[in-house]
Amino acid sequence: MDAPDLARLDGPVSKVRLPFGGWAWLVTRHADVRQLLRHPGFSSDQYKPGFPVLNPIPPEQKDAAGLFIFMDGEAHSRLRKMLTAEFMIKNIRRLEPLIEQTVVDTLEEMRAAGPGVDLLSAFALPVPSMTICHLLGVPLSDQDFFQLHSRAIMDRKSGPEEIGAALAALTGFLAELIKAKRTAPGDDLLSRLVAERVVPGELREDELLSMAMLLLVAGHETTANMIGMSALALLERPELLAALREDPDLAPNMVEELLRYSTVVRTGLPRLAMEDAEIGGQKIRAGEGVVAMLAMANRDGSVFKDAEEFDPKRQEAHRHMAFGFGLHQCIGQPLARAELRIALVELARRFPTLRSERALVDVPTRPLAVTFGLDELPVTW
Ligand code: HEM
Repeated sequence: MDAPDLARLDGPVSKVRLPFGGWAWLVTRHADVRQLLRHPGFSSDQYKPGFPVLNPIPPEQKDAAGLFIFMDGEAHSRLRKMLTAEFMIKNIRRLEPLIEQTVVDTLEEMRAAGPGVDLLSAFALPVPSMTICHLLGVPLSDQDFFQLHSRAIMDRKSGPEEIGAALAALTGFLAELIKAKRTAPGDDLLSRLVAERVVPGELREDELLSMAMLLLVAGHETTANMIGMSALALLERPELLAALREDPDLAPNMVEELLRYSTVVRTGLPRLAMEDAEIGGQKIRAGEGVVAMLAMANRDGSVFKDAEEFDPKRQEAHRHMAFGFGLHQCIGQPLARAELRIALVELARRFPTLRSERALVDVPTRPLAVTFGLDELPVTW
């Protein structure tokens, strides 16, 4: 959604028509989005009748036992809690040397392939996919296989059959990997969950399998698109690339502002009212759909001064909701932040003359995809 659309809709909760039929309440103000996303009377279960459909649901997802992003209440918190410790900042810090190595290796491969490469496929896509390999404990020898199929899922050119085949290949691979972790555990998320949850009977293997797939899907394209959007923002402002090179401590706040400014989860977060409620002064009845527009809340002028401006030193940048809010707030955010920070600092350090090969206004975007991003970002140096 572009700036005039944002301005037009930045107002009270109002009714909108949905792309696949029906209507929902659109919630756009920062305070209203917060109120909605922490309200326990709204469901995330996209399989419930009447749920506001923003994207058609692939049928193969319907039986997935561990997709807690679509669950409510106790069922959701039971599975989410099993991952909380894994994503705590102190545990993500232990992964940072591996992320650093991945970023450096990927950038050096990009250098060898250039000058003149697509930054998205050479850098933005492989980094999150490799990071998830490290997190889950995918052996080095299988990482190429894992990368190949996870990229096929994200590839803009893949048709439904290719995506289905790649999903099936990865599901089969992860099922075998989970079995292998019983006898040969490592220092990784899957091994710990197998030993601490599956073996004592608290978690089924099929639940763990779909949790692992959720981490892959939720953490790959989002982070890749954020790396791409961030690189674009830096190419548009070469002085920032130089500033980052001189003072890498600028990176954490710059990352928050990039998350706010880009808000890649742009179609909004859908919910279904399970009880009568009031959001932003609007009465919402049980059975009605609502959509929380994170991108608009992140441009709410009552929270962000000159909200349309990109300001890498913005003090209130951390108040953005690019990771959602409330019960389902992104569990992977410490990991995403670490990846973004390391990726941008190393890009600035290793490619001081990085520039785009075409006028940046012409870079193709994906305005209708679930996660907003670029189709490609041709760069040279
Ligand atoms: C910049 C990158 C990322 C963005 C913008 C992002 C955004 C989001 C948002 C908006 C939600 C809330 C969904 C909802 O309320 O319905 C979410 C949930 C989630 N994210 Fe992320 N995410 C990112 C990276 C990651 C990473 C790296 C991982 C893990 C490897 C991850 C795993 C998850 C999971 C498992 C959930 C579901 C949480 C729950 O339902 O309790 N995300 N993410």
